[in-house]
Amino acid sequence: MPPSKSSLINLKNLSVKTVGSLFSKTLELKKNFNQYQRSAGVYHSGYKGTAALLFLEPSTRTRFSFEAACSRAGYHPLILDGIAGTSLEKGETIEDTIFNIEAMRPLFFVIRSDDQFDMQQMVEKISVPIINAGWGKRGHPTQALLDAVTIFEKRGDLAKQNILFIGDIKHSRVVSSHIELAATTGSPLAFCAPENFLPEQITSGVKVFRKLEEALDWATVIMALRVQKERHGVDAWFSVEDYRKNFGINLDRVQKLNPDSLLMHPGPINYGVEIESEILTDPRCVILKQVENGVFLREALIRNLFDGDL
Ligand code: CP
Repeated sequence: MPPSKSSLINLKNLSVKTVGSLFSKTLELKKNFNQYQRSAGVYHSGYKGTAALLFLEPSTRTRFSFEAACSRAGYHPLILDGIAGTSLEKGETIEDTIFNIEAMRPLFFVIRSDDQFDMQQMVEKISVPIINAGWGKRGHPTQALLDAVTIFEKRGDLAKQNILFIGDIKHSRVVSSHIELAATTGSPLAFCAPENFLPEQITSGVKVFRKLEEALDWATVIMALRVQKERHGVDAWFSVEDYRKNFGINLDRVQKLNPDSLLMHPGPINYGVEIESEILTDPRCVILKQVENGVFLREALIRNLFDGDL
């Protein structure tokens, strides 16, 4: 097979004309960048620009749903999925990685990171917006919003819903964001957890139940949380058997629930710990609806935030 004339392996034998043509095309693209990226047909139909998705901690639901939401809304997602294979492995800092990706002109960032990274400070240092896709224990705003829209879709007025969180509340960024959101929606919140899974400070107005049966009687929405072993200290004690007995959602407990209750979990689930797999088929279980709604909610958010100035 003859070698392809379009390959570029080295810079030997380039004509002055080729270099001149490349430079003028480059500078023309740069000059017209905003106009190009906003006009359908210059790139491909519906294309609005790129979005940089940086997932520095593992994710399935949030990453895929942001990718899908960006695609549906016309923003091509560029994905950094873990540090393996990136210059972070060579010692580049996260901040420097972001500055370099910003130089490539994405229209916004979507970032998942641990608590060590200061996402709030990063917002001040770059000129494009950041959407928090899960920040250590501090917050997971789009998860709380997709949970809330799922509750709203199924049950209506959020202020009338008693939302109960069960389990590893201390390490949950989902709960942190629900507490922030409840100030707007007016939803009453409650916790039920082993003592070492409760936060040191309980937010004012949040109820705490010691017995799961009493908590389930109070709740209209039951949100089981993943036990986040990766965020526990090395000496943290945890017994699956005790947890399952005292806090696990099983068929026996579900059968006693109000027929209008909702059973939720932000995922991923440790089956046989937080939830028994048989409850997935219960009509009150909306765990996969949360995932489905996650894409629509994130698409709506992206369109509301970034389509306005097109
Ligand atoms: N709920 C949630 O954030 O799931 P992922 O970690 O799979 O994104």
